[in-house]
Amino acid sequence: MDSNATTGFSVSMASFTCGAICNIFSYLLFKHYNYSMVLIYGDVLMDVLIFEEAPKVYASDAQARALVVPGGSAFNTARHAARWGSNVGILGCVGTDGGYGFFMEAGQRYGINMLLTQKEGFTGTLLVRHEKGERNMWSSPNVARSYISVPEVDIDWLHISGYALFHPESSKVVQELTAKAKSNGAVLSVDAASYEPLKQHLSTFLQMTRGYDFLFANEHEMEILAKTDYYYKHVVVKQGSRGATVDGVHVEAPQVEVVSTLGAGDCFNGVFIAEVSKGAALVEACRKASAEASRWVATDFERRYF
Ligand SMILES: Nc1ncnc2c1ncn2[C@@H]1O[C@H](COP(=O)(O)OP(=O)(O)OP(=O)(O)O)[C@@H](O)[C@H]1O
Ligand SMILES: [Mg+2]
Repeated sequence: MDSNATTGFSVSMASFTCGAICNIFSYLLFKHYNYSMVLIYGDVLMDVLIFEEAPKVYASDAQARALVVPGGSAFNTARHAARWGSNVGILGCVGTDGGYGFFMEAGQRYGINMLLTQKEGFTGTLLVRHEKGERNMWSSPNVARSYISVPEVDIDWLHISGYALFHPESSKVVQELTAKAKSNGAVLSVDAASYEPLKQHLSTFLQMTRGYDFLFANEHEMEILAKTDYYYKHVVVKQGSRGATVDGVHVEAPQVEVVSTLGAGDCFNGVFIAEVSKGAALVEACRKASAEASRWVATDFERRYF
């Protein structure tokens, strides 16, 4: 069951106003060249982060250090773009399990215009276990990729988190959003999301994003795309600790002590989009995005969220 459309819209409008005030401050701080609305669509997930667990005690309790934080590739990208001065809206779907309030509060905290639809069921969840310096993830999208309708907002930049192209309902939303964004003359960008599902859904991914202005992918994802006749105006390849390239021009990443690489790619994308929206040259935007993503991977978890 969808939430009452009127109520949903009025809550979104309240958040919109709050977001707008935050963005006026951002405007003063960051001195935009172009003031634009970046709309980001894709996964809004609750991240359950598990850092340490004592050995399991059969049928009883053991200690762990765990956190529940707002996440999902689309939400993460939105929060970084907002922090970097963009006027950002996020379009996504949450459940009737308290996820709506959780994300509205988070959106307010980070200055994001929250365009959330609520569907009966559970909010998407990502389990992230940090073990021996590596992060392993298990995702359960739940309602995150359900069909939702496209809002009446003007879009200057549409960014799609590629996970939305891995389900028929959210792919339909991407198709409608792309048509609307094109009619608004918006910039279009997509992130390739993840190697395995990209491989499985490659033809949909290529078909739906053909002619987009920007593709963001890491080197692993690029291996798949390089074998196709993909067409994007600009290609940004993220290379972990080695930095990134934009249209083949390489920028180094600062060397840092890694806390966790969780969300590095989303941080990169958010900053890159915000920089280009402000009028920065692509190589300069890539340099700033890489520097900020490296700072992010070296940031401890308390400082990531508060
Ligand atoms: N180990 C690292 N040391 C320094 N910087 C890093 C490291 N890992 C990632 N980064 C920074 O984060 C950026 C994006 O990371 P990465 O190349 O891993 O993208 P991604 O694969 O899309 O990430 P994600 O796993 O979040 O999807 C890099 O360009 C770099 O600036
Ligand atoms: Mg990535």
